[in-house]
Amino acid sequence: MNKTEKQLLEQFLSSYNEDKRLAKYDIQSCIVWTEMLVKQGIVEKTKAKKVISKLKELQHKFDKIKINKTEDVHYVVETMLENLLGKDKLLSGIIRTGRSRNDLVVNDERLFLKDEIKEIIKLLKQVIVEILKLAEKNLDVIMCGMTHLQPAQPVLFSHYIMSFSWMFYRDIERLKDCLSRVDVSVLGSSAFSGTTLNIDRKEVAKKLGFSKVSTNSVDSVSDRDYVIEFISSCAILMMHLSRMMEEFILWLTPNFGYISLPPQLTTGSSIMPQKQNPDYLELTRGKTAVVYGSLVGILTLMKSLPLSYNRDMQEDKLFLNKTVDTVKECLQVVKIIIKNLKVNKEQMNKSVEHGFILATELANWLVTNLGIPFKSAHKIVSKIVEYCVKNQKNFIELEYEEIARTLNNKKFNKEKFLIMKKEVSVENVIMKTNTYGGTSLSRVKQQISELKNILKTDKK
Ligand code: ARG
Repeated sequence: MNKTEKQLLEQFLSSYNEDKRLAKYDIQSCIVWTEMLVKQGIVEKTKAKKVISKLKELQHKFDKIKINKTEDVHYVVETMLENLLGKDKLLSGIIRTGRSRNDLVVNDERLFLKDEIKEIIKLLKQVIVEILKLAEKNLDVIMCGMTHLQPAQPVLFSHYIMSFSWMFYRDIERLKDCLSRVDVSVLGSSAFSGTTLNIDRKEVAKKLGFSKVSTNSVDSVSDRDYVIEFISSCAILMMHLSRMMEEFILWLTPNFGYISLPPQLTTGSSIMPQKQNPDYLELTRGKTAVVYGSLVGILTLMKSLPLSYNRDMQEDKLFLNKTVDTVKECLQVVKIIIKNLKVNKEQMNKSVEHGFILATELANWLVTNLGIPFKSAHKIVSKIVEYCVKNQKNFIELEYEEIARTLNNKKFNKEKFLIMKKEVSVENVIMKTNTYGGTSLSRVKQQISELKNILKTDKK
């Protein structure tokens, strides 16, 4: 075999590019493991002391040391330890006692993921706080809510935007739930069957800050569910971000003009001078694909793998890292976007003048005031809308006779017409949509305070 081939094979085997970020956890695990070995009388205290002191040194030096042998982070840590021990280099072998890279890599990954999940939850909370601020700043803004991307019913902007905060809150719940299954120590499962040495797995787990110890060593080294669960939670999170960005992108088009962004958050076009493109929003929307890709990747990686450990699983870090980085990056960008987004109140308020977004309320009014069954009321209002479209009129411009003709109902007199005109208004509809979780101002204020309380108790 020539040198190039050798290099190619070495490179092929290596996961160092992806797993070097586990170094801090790997070294920490080595320290705790060695301390346990001493306590259990498996290795001599004086020898272990030397190893532990060099591992502690390595904790600070790791990033500065250059190394040639880079199969994976575990070998790198071991080799660096060897070098630091100098004449005592053989002592580095102690850290291998009773454990294997198969259980070590899972523990490292779990420690890493515990930190990252907490970080992502923190970022999600920051995004929610920005949404709350935006909602509270714009409590008086009314907008045209949509279904099928068609004008549907009037809502408070604050109500509409708060819907995203609940999505993100569910993401937090999902991640916390996932965290409970990540928070399990597998160290001591060894290659896959456990070990004949008298190790203390519980002590190691406790010292590393894990709440639980895994119960089946075969499962411990074979399982990557925690990665899959994490990435699927993140896929849902990214779906939420992409929907929010899509909404903003639409609102930013001059046709909507509901919101605007400062110049630092838009980009120009090299050919069209007038352009202010929402690239940050589009990229967030686009990066969702990266996380979805990672989810499909990890599921495919694990499908049909025989028990227990297989080298295939080394590739999991590719998907895990990509997901962690993408989600964190996007959440930080989205936070900046929400913080700097300006609501064009007039334009939003104006949006309710178009279309027939009072149609449902008009039907409701016919139900409560004239006793017409809703299905018939719906039919009547459809006809009124048809008439308006034909005659290029809006509801508010209609005369008594024009409605009465379509309605053909004796109870509907001029007096009722005037009451109807007063009652079926955008402001009134919003005020009266007072069911729990509805868009009335008091209900929106209620959900804002509910979410704030949840966040507050969450902190404790
Ligand atoms: N780098 C490997 C991984 O990430 C560590 C485990 C290697 N185990 C083995 N038996 N070759 O999966």
